Amino acid sequence: MGLFIHIHLIAAIAWIGGSIFMFVLGVTLLDKEKQKQVYPHIGPIFGYFELVALLILLISGTVMVVNDGLLQALFSDSDNIIVQTLRKKLFIVAIIVVATIIHFYIAFRTNGKERTKMQNIISRGSSLLIFFLNLFVLHYAIVIRSML
Ligand code: HEM
Repeated sequence: MGLFIHIHLIAAIAWIGGSIFMFVLGVTLLDKEKQKQVYPHIGPIFGYFELVALLILLISGTVMVVNDGLLQALFSDSDNIIVQTLRKKLFIVAIIVVATIIHFYIAFRTNGKERTKMQNIISRGSSLLIFFLNLFVLHYAIVIRSML
């Protein structure tokens, strides 16, 4: 087992653990006044924490793909089941990255301010999407590992 899978796993724990914690906070902290007290403080810290975790995942994942000689296989017409599953995982990761950029853009522009209804819908929708897609990424990562 290499160094990068260890780094990748720690970052995955931080990234997914963080999103599960925020999901729990979102469904339990319903009082608007308490939300106004908590989110402006916790939001930026959580944001940077998650950003670092995602960057580490992307970098360590890319290093492993290159080191394992999978880069060419990914862009070939290979129908190897591991390559196919990795493609599915990376496709979902790409959606997560786009949803994260949208979520961060709104979060940083509106932190501590009143949000419009549309900003609220997009912000909550993207975080819910990231939360559920993470579970699929985790599933595919486990499937890949079990086939190696
Ligand atoms: C949201 C982003 C990601 C999450 C949550 C994630 C999660 C994981 C997890 C949990 C494992 C370990 C699976 C196991 O040991 O059972 C893993 C392995 C791996 N990931 Fe990721 N990953 C992410 C992004 C990426 C990206 C962007 C790449 C490549 C560009 C990548 C490539 C890999 C590779 C090559 C392995 C090693 C396969 C193995 O040896 O098991 N991952 N990932």
